[in-house]
Amino acid sequence: MRNTLVAGNWKLNGSKASITELLKGILDGMSDGSVKSQTDVAVCAPYIYIPHVQELLQGTNLAYGSESISEHDSGAYTGEISGSMLNDFDCKYAIVGHSERRTLFAEKDADTANKFAAARKHGIKPILCIGELLEEREQGVTESVVARQLDAVIDLEGVEALADAVIAYEPVWAIGTGMTASPQQAQDVHAFIRGKIAALNSSVAEKVQILYGGSVNGGNADELFAMPDIDGGLIGGAALKAEDFLAICRAGK
Ligand code: 13P
Repeated sequence: MRNTLVAGNWKLNGSKASITELLKGILDGMSDGSVKSQTDVAVCAPYIYIPHVQELLQGTNLAYGSESISEHDSGAYTGEISGSMLNDFDCKYAIVGHSERRTLFAEKDADTANKFAAARKHGIKPILCIGELLEEREQGVTESVVARQLDAVIDLEGVEALADAVIAYEPVWAIGTGMTASPQQAQDVHAFIRGKIAALNSSVAEKVQILYGGSVNGGNADELFAMPDIDGGLIGGAALKAEDFLAICRAGK
């Protein structure tokens, strides 16, 4: 049985003061045992706040990570942050291939695969984001899009690499729009992803956590997480308020 994972993606939000308050609120809310023991919780923070997050979360069961990672280890790459730098601050996770990186910062499937490899090389669990645009869903090519995005990683790293990773299915049309995928729509794609992995390696397919992301909130998390192939969520807007985030952390199997 896979654990549920609820991970916050703060994106370009927060200040030192607001993050302090948010994390205190989440830790407070988790302290009464209302989050199930089989649910893991994490927050992914802007790079600059990671040392502060580390300090606040020391000795707690709230994990943390980054929102991206450089594919390079070191060198002339102004503005980048490497896996070894993230190791210095004990990051457990790194989001790779978020649709905002793909669409706004022109990251290609191959770049995402290289970032995925960089994270694994440093013992950081990549949270690999995949998902289709609205026009791709309307054209009926959702499965081929997520298959292509997944194949870029499998071709580079091998399917076994997914055993140490998390996949987040985030339909781009559902991100920040309030248009959540229905539990069945999400389940269908999650089952497709798991089935595709199972065709290559059934034990990896059984093990890998596949999160859903896109307008998850306290009101819809329960139904989404109840689906057999949905193992939690990657949360944007609702991760910025402790009560909203906690409501999602308390949902699920
Ligand atoms: P929202 O929860 O704000 O739709 O964002 C989802 C997301 O992009 C998480 O990575």
